[in-house]
Amino acid sequence: MLYKRNPQLNKNGELIHLLSIEGLPRQVIHHILDTAETFLSVNDREVKKVPLLRGKSVFNLFFENSTRTRTTFEIAAKRLSADVLNLDIARSSTAKGESLLDTIANLSAMHADMFVVRHSESGAPYLIAQHCAPHVHVVNAGDGRHAHPTQGLLDMYTIRHYKKDFTGLTVAIVGDIVHSRVARSDIHALTTLGVAEVRVVGPKTLVPGDLKEMGVRVCHDMKEGIRDADVVIMLRLQNERMSGALLPSAGEFFKNFGLTPEKLAHAKPDAIVMHPGPINRGVEIDSAVADGKQSVILPQVTFGIAVRMAVMSIIAGNEA
Ligand code: CP
Repeated sequence: MLYKRNPQLNKNGELIHLLSIEGLPRQVIHHILDTAETFLSVNDREVKKVPLLRGKSVFNLFFENSTRTRTTFEIAAKRLSADVLNLDIARSSTAKGESLLDTIANLSAMHADMFVVRHSESGAPYLIAQHCAPHVHVVNAGDGRHAHPTQGLLDMYTIRHYKKDFTGLTVAIVGDIVHSRVARSDIHALTTLGVAEVRVVGPKTLVPGDLKEMGVRVCHDMKEGIRDADVVIMLRLQNERMSGALLPSAGEFFKNFGLTPEKLAHAKPDAIVMHPGPINRGVEIDSAVADGKQSVILPQVTFGIAVRMAVMSIIAGNEA
């Protein structure tokens, strides 16, 4: 049964939760990107609202820090006319030992219609989706090192916006791949959308060995990794997920894998530079690149609002 294989799809193959890009059919990804495009103009209106989630309650549950994702989910839900509640996890009863599922049960008793969840434990949004009432929808806003599907989708939206077609592209993802949920979501999206070549670039300690099985080219040399790339996606060092010393120093990392104008010159002249944020200037990216004319880092954030509006409106419109 389809539902058993992929809990984010109902028996008609429609999206009811967004938990991961892995296993999402290509047409579902395109539907989200196309829907996001229709919402982009809402952001330019004087009254930035549509009534699609009027009367619905969206609960933002961020058990890990966030600037971009939490804020753009809140903006997106408000632009869809939902009531939005941001649970202050640090001041919540989680600190008194309440379990995740008990918290969810209590918030469900307050008539929550959608949970947007960021958690340090991989799989936490899946657990919540399994225990919610059928009418409640769950969006994964980043779980451990597993997945960050809306970041992956807004990255695909950004690439499509600037490059139009995925099939002829070479995309290089550079930095701390092993700890990155964004890298995993981007790889699943890029391969599903038929990108010609996906490369991951980084030191051996920060690139997992099993990526070749996903059809990805692994490079441990920066110039080789970004040579003739159309898109360069930089990732920060995820120090909060590292155990032990995986690098000699941040300075050494910048020397070998930090994106400077000199290194970027090896990519195509019209290559775009992306980064999910937060950026660490002088560690994985030079300010001259982050603020340069090839950078689309801030447009990514803006597109994130429309993409999150698309995800929430689509899943809310489908029944379990
Ligand atoms: N890209 C991203 O997830 O950023 P935040 O951690 O600020 O949400």
